[in-house]
Amino acid sequence: MLSILKTRIKEELEPRLNVRFQAQVQLIVEEPKKAELGDLSVPIFSIVKELRKPLPVIIDAVKEELAKIPASEYFASIDSVSGFINITLDKVMVAKMVIEEFGTGANYGQTHIGDGKTVCIDYSSPNIAKPFSVGHLRSTIIGHSLGNIMEKCGYKVVRINHLGDFGTQFGKTIYAYLNWGNKALVEANPVEELVKLYVEFNEKAKDDPSLEDEARRIFKELEEGNEKYVNLWNYIREESLKDYMKVYKLLDVSFDSYNGEAFYNDKMQAVVDELQAKHLLKKDQGAMIVDLGENLPPALIQKSDGSTLYITRDLAALFYRKNTYDFDEALYVVGNEQKLHFTQLQKVVELMGYDFAKDIHHINFGLVLQDGKKMSTRKGKIVKLEDVLEEACKLSLDYINEKNPELQDKDATAEKIGVSAVIFNDLKNYRTNDFEFNLEEMVNFVGQTGPYLQYTSVRIKSILDSVEPVEVPLDYNLFREDHYFEIIKNISLYEDTIIKAKQEYAPSVIAKYLLNLASLFNSFYAKERVNVENPVERETKIRLLRMTREVLNDGMRLLGMQVILKM
Ligand code: ARG
Repeated sequence: MLSILKTRIKEELEPRLNVRFQAQVQLIVEEPKKAELGDLSVPIFSIVKELRKPLPVIIDAVKEELAKIPASEYFASIDSVSGFINITLDKVMVAKMVIEEFGTGANYGQTHIGDGKTVCIDYSSPNIAKPFSVGHLRSTIIGHSLGNIMEKCGYKVVRINHLGDFGTQFGKTIYAYLNWGNKALVEANPVEELVKLYVEFNEKAKDDPSLEDEARRIFKELEEGNEKYVNLWNYIREESLKDYMKVYKLLDVSFDSYNGEAFYNDKMQAVVDELQAKHLLKKDQGAMIVDLGENLPPALIQKSDGSTLYITRDLAALFYRKNTYDFDEALYVVGNEQKLHFTQLQKVVELMGYDFAKDIHHINFGLVLQDGKKMSTRKGKIVKLEDVLEEACKLSLDYINEKNPELQDKDATAEKIGVSAVIFNDLKNYRTNDFEFNLEEMVNFVGQTGPYLQYTSVRIKSILDSVEPVEVPLDYNLFREDHYFEIIKNISLYEDTIIKAKQEYAPSVIAKYLLNLASLFNSFYAKERVNVENPVERETKIRLLRMTREVLNDGMRLLGMQVILKM
């Protein structure tokens, strides 16, 4: 809603200034850096040059014109501080506007910046027969949330799990399975056993490099369709997917496509041919490469033995997605360590002459740390994701048993809390940063945690359940008080927050917003009782609480968290 006012001010003020100064300025209306400066702010520096008048003259003119525009009915005062014109809004008018616009709350915050557009989001994308790593968990959580955010912005979202189901590692796993594998053990516990075999292979290959050749040979035959290997590969893929589904189910995540790397096996020759036709392929010691200029290492498209590479499959996948979904944006939610890969991918597409190269975005992210070290291994062992999530749920259950032992459905609630705690702990950090993984801290009901948000929502619900609503007009004058107004203003910023999260591809923008909203509510509730005698005051508070809860719940949903009714 504040965004509506921003747009109105811009649209109403610009033509007036342009007529007055015979110019073509573009204004920006933003929030001031510090809240005490006002609610909205118009920076003047950027237009001084164009208007060719001294700053004080311009400032006076802008203030004068601002006072005349129709939107000024929402202004309480207009001031200027060092090159900015700051507007303080009329709290009562704004509260009325926000509450009316909110209505029943359906679709509140929905924007239309993505209407008619499609985005492909490539996320999670684990490598089969390898453990689902903490990095894949991050990709899953961030990608899923970005999908929700972009849907809320009007985009059609295609969620793609680009499974790592191809590559020399299968040569390794298959070799190990056929030579040292115990069929019964593997059948009882496929992924875990296959991972062990893979690890064993790598151990043995350190002493016996000829194993690597064997693995390469097997992989090559697999690529060429050797039936025995293909059947094994199918088995490995299916069992791995079954395993991942457990994690996806816990996280409540799903995909529109599970086309992994292997899917593009028969679609790569076309890419190679096109590169050749466009004179982009160069022979280099038997291999085929694309030269990417001075600042980038060349892209290796085909090895000297004819086998293709990760980037070749990504090129084929990209063209397939462009043809199939006609995307406006293609996002890849993958860790920082693949930055070079995606820079190269984009560059190759650009050299091929495709304008949509600019629509490719690598949504990179940092590491998960434990005691300052990369979390993928603990005591030399691989951290199993399911165990981590289970541990989070168990800790949440302990917490419930301590705080509210009488609660019904304790296990189901603990699961929702535990999983959401892990999700929130990830998303509250700006994605490119590394962060510490401390289970005890993240499942706590106090602090900047997921359970704190869930708890605040539950608390509001129980307050609302305990009061009798009545049909009376609201008292907007109450919003003159800061602790009322701050909440309404925050609610009015929801849409802007979602747009910012989309623009930065950063769910953390929403996470921080929700923490702020929850803490505003909790301080409000420390000062105010809701169940008061006066029906008008009571009804006004009920309305404010309802709106707060709706926004909290919707925001949590965007992050991929679960809303809880009792805890
Ligand atoms: N499977 C890859 C890995 O785990 C990630 C794939 C990301 N997506 C892509 N289109 N390259 O490293």
